[in-house]
Amino acid sequence: MEKVIIAPSVLACDFLKIGQEIEMLNQSAADWIHIDVMDGVFVPNISFGFPVLEAIKKQTTKILDVHLMIVNPEKYIESFAKAGANIISVHYETCPHIHTTIQQIKDAGCKAGVVINPGTPTSVLKDIIFDVDLVLIMSVNPGFGGQKFISNAIKKTKEVSQLAQLLGKKDLKIQIDGGVTDQNAKALVDAGANVLVAGSYVFNSSNPIQTIQNLIDITA
Ligand code: DX5
Ligand code: ZN
Repeated sequence: MEKVIIAPSVLACDFLKIGQEIEMLNQSAADWIHIDVMDGVFVPNISFGFPVLEAIKKQTTKILDVHLMIVNPEKYIESFAKAGANIISVHYETCPHIHTTIQQIKDAGCKAGVVINPGTPTSVLKDIIFDVDLVLIMSVNPGFGGQKFISNAIKKTKEVSQLAQLLGKKDLKIQIDGGVTDQNAKALVDAGANVLVAGSYVFNSSNPIQTIQNLIDITA
């Protein structure tokens, strides 16, 4: 089985020491860095935007995986691409013209992802799965780090994995975001996930580099 990709979410890092935190991730086995952008409208929290992304880009060669929890994401795709995003994921719930928005992300030179909330069924992905590089299944309601994992995400992971197989969609990244720990990582990967976001579990641990490695090892 291919190695799982760990994408630590910097939402949980110490922002006073963000340079050191990124340096730590550079030394770690994490392949991606997950960037949570929140607007206080689509989700009840505001995080950070372009200056933070630009600063992180200057200090890492890891893949920057940008998760947009904002309304009207189509207005900002170009700017996120210019600021250093390699992957941009948009919520299905924010995009009345999801196909157009996905094409816009690709035209900006990035890989494109679609995200579904815990209350959104996987069936909405049927007609967009061929156009995306990544499906992100939320395993918490978006807005905050450190929430409890919603176990229904395991069932949804299986559904997306089966849908991809059924439709012959190869190389799909199936990413899980929210409440990922050593307690659920293996079940998620066994269900078909190949990218795990982990925020508080990584950054609140006493040895984040080891914690990232452990997540890889227990899912192998
Ligand atoms: C939630 C964010 C997540 C969050 C993950 O809205 O999309 O990426 O930061 O943090 P943990 O791993 O702490 O749930
Ligand atoms: Zn996220």
